[in-house]
Amino acid sequence: MGILFSMPGNERLAAELGRIGPWAAGALEIRRFPDGESYVRILPDVAGHRAAILCTLARPDSRFLRLVFTARTLKELGASSVTLIAPYLSYMRQDIRFEPGEALTSRHFADLLSQAFDRLITVDPHLHRYGNLREIYSIPATALSSAPLLARWVQDNIDRPVIIGPDSESEQWVSSIAGMANAPYLVLEKKRLGDRVVEIKAPDLARWKQCRPVIVDDIVSSGATLVETAKCLQDQGLPAPACLIVHALLGERAQRSLAAVAFPLISTNTVPHATNGISIAAAIAGTLDPEAR
Ligand code: R5P
Repeated sequence: MGILFSMPGNERLAAELGRIGPWAAGALEIRRFPDGESYVRILPDVAGHRAAILCTLARPDSRFLRLVFTARTLKELGASSVTLIAPYLSYMRQDIRFEPGEALTSRHFADLLSQAFDRLITVDPHLHRYGNLREIYSIPATALSSAPLLARWVQDNIDRPVIIGPDSESEQWVSSIAGMANAPYLVLEKKRLGDRVVEIKAPDLARWKQCRPVIVDDIVSSGATLVETAKCLQDQGLPAPACLIVHALLGERAQRSLAAVAFPLISTNTVPHATNGISIAAAIAGTLDPEAR
């Protein structure tokens, strides 16, 4: 039988996965020493078992070392394979050197994870200039799509929706959600002026005034992209939009700014967040289960 370990902070999704799939829950002891270093101990006997570690990689710098220590220890203790389930996969946005001398962190991060794990399962990785994960990951990598779940949410909750993508990168998600929800979609234009400053331009939206906009983005971090998109729609007299977010990386301040211009804000649970309303557990379990037997 496979054994599923959950890194601290991932307990809710781990419990859901445990209820759905045939994986045994693996206990870990993880804590910080007074000097900030990590202590890791694996409690069950893992020799000969397949192991999976659930660890969302939002704010990865503080999670990474303990994750790799856990994976390496599982292998040393005889686990037959170690899969990483990272519902949110970080360091995908630095996919070119925008300025000379910048670290190409998407590649470095992929190298490090590929050394530590045998397989990767993730949800909607931010593939912009890379066509797929194989371009940077040397281990088998499965990218699940949340689009069917988001499309179902739109169908169940919104009358006369028009799906809005804030920028050209979002077209891949927006077009497939719109197709599945049988709704029209539009993609706006974004210019990023800084980490927290963006400019959004929309065409004439007069013909969509009777529709309810649903803004969809894969990642929300500072919130600037969605706030400016919502304002742009408002300026042209459209109703207040709903926002669907795949990976909710936003803090409380960004959530407040966004809540002032859009309602509701709904995210998937790839990153634990107050806006979580759509669970990706069944999709992950479907991919993971064949490994358990
Ligand atoms: C762009 O690369 C992504 O798809 C998101 O639009 C972006 O990460 C959102 O960031 P923020 O919330 O900081 O504007």
